Amino acid sequence: MEKERKYYIRTFGCQMNFHDSEKMAGMLSEGGMREASTEQDAGVVIFNTCSIRQKAEQKFLSELGRLKKLKKRNPGLKIAVAGCIAQQMGAELFKKAPHVDFVIGPQNIHLIRGLVEGEEAGAAHLEANPDLARSDLPVQRNGKPSAWVNVMYGCNNFCTYCIVPYTRGREVSRPSENILREIEGLAARGIKEVNLLGQNVNSYHGDTGFSGLLGKVNGIPAIERIRFVTSHPRDLSDGLIQAMKSLGKVCEHIHLPLQSGSNSVLGGMNRKYTYESYLEKIEKLRAAMPGIAITTDIITGFPGETEEDHGMTLRALREIEYDGIFAFMYSPRPGTRAARMDGQLPDVVKSARLSGILSLQDEMTLKKNKALEGSLQEILVEGPSEKGAPGQYTGRTRGNKIVNFDSDKDLTGHILKVNIKSAGIHSLKGELI
Ligand code: 5AD
Ligand code: SF4
Repeated sequence: MEKERKYYIRTFGCQMNFHDSEKMAGMLSEGGMREASTEQDAGVVIFNTCSIRQKAEQKFLSELGRLKKLKKRNPGLKIAVAGCIAQQMGAELFKKAPHVDFVIGPQNIHLIRGLVEGEEAGAAHLEANPDLARSDLPVQRNGKPSAWVNVMYGCNNFCTYCIVPYTRGREVSRPSENILREIEGLAARGIKEVNLLGQNVNSYHGDTGFSGLLGKVNGIPAIERIRFVTSHPRDLSDGLIQAMKSLGKVCEHIHLPLQSGSNSVLGGMNRKYTYESYLEKIEKLRAAMPGIAITTDIITGFPGETEEDHGMTLRALREIEYDGIFAFMYSPRPGTRAARMDGQLPDVVKSARLSGILSLQDEMTLKKNKALEGSLQEILVEGPSEKGAPGQYTGRTRGNKIVNFDSDKDLTGHILKVNIKSAGIHSLKGELI
């Protein structure tokens, strides 16, 4: 196939963004295009960008700079910038990087095919698009037995540090019939696990409510596992905890971002819960599902955070014993409330606190994983392990832990029992039984 008919997508950021890339790929494939294996081999290069932290943004800008040379050699090359930076910078991107042809925000990805096929360049597509929830865009799936499915788009929370409500707009829920139709289609194609995606799935406002939606997905015979991200601690209801407990296919794992263990920092972040009320939810989850895996996000060095506040976050990690965390240095985002707050901290302070958090959690994660040694775990086999030797495969437990194991047969897509032989910080080693 000639170059002009091939696309290459580079994705930064979160699962939402990776899923948006699958949709752009789906639309371009429907138009008869194919995926290129490198940027050099493509007629269309799309950067799907993330602006959650400055680091992600800088990485993108330097990568985008590299494309200038490519375009010089291949003037027919079309370059599109999509995602959260596209939404945030808009037409300014054309000034900063004149080699860019299209700018498309996350709510306008449905336009990609028309833009690539048409001649028009130089316009930024940033309009709010509440119809997104009703449009069933084609998705190019990655061949894994697990698939992402959007249940809602956008966010209404306005945590003071966060850019997402500005880039992805207000919350809209997909009608449950669209979601169920999509999942039935996936089941028919052999998908075993669905991961329901939304910035805040617990405030899903479709006709069924979120617990009701889980119940309906649980009723689709060929689907064997259900996961969801992300939950907001304020909206995690008793009803949802009960639904997780009673629905056999819903995996015993929850990602519940704490952000900070200090109530005054949580207040400044506009999180609308206290550490005590968060802890109460953790206790309810563990009472309902002993052994449930719990993961979280932490931000270090939010404006005004004192050593004492930081100590409270460390204490929280010890008290809660998370299975894993994602921790980040606070990064001021343009236009957000926290970026204008007093008490901005220098990077040295943020990064020292981050190291403290990460090394404590490494200990905790290892302890949690070690506790699984000798246990029997159900895994869904995802495929050959990426770095592993030939004959080594990888799967995930219901608690979302990676298990590597040896097998002479390719068991991708199978749900199996393995004995956990040893555990490290990042993965477990299992043996088929
Ligand atoms: N700086 C640092 N981390 C952030 N996050 C969101 N915004 C920022 C920011 N400005 C983190 C939060 C969120 C995760 C997806 O990214 O912890 O839960
Ligand atoms: Fe995802 Fe947020 Fe990054 Fe946008 S800014 S890609 S929503 S993490």
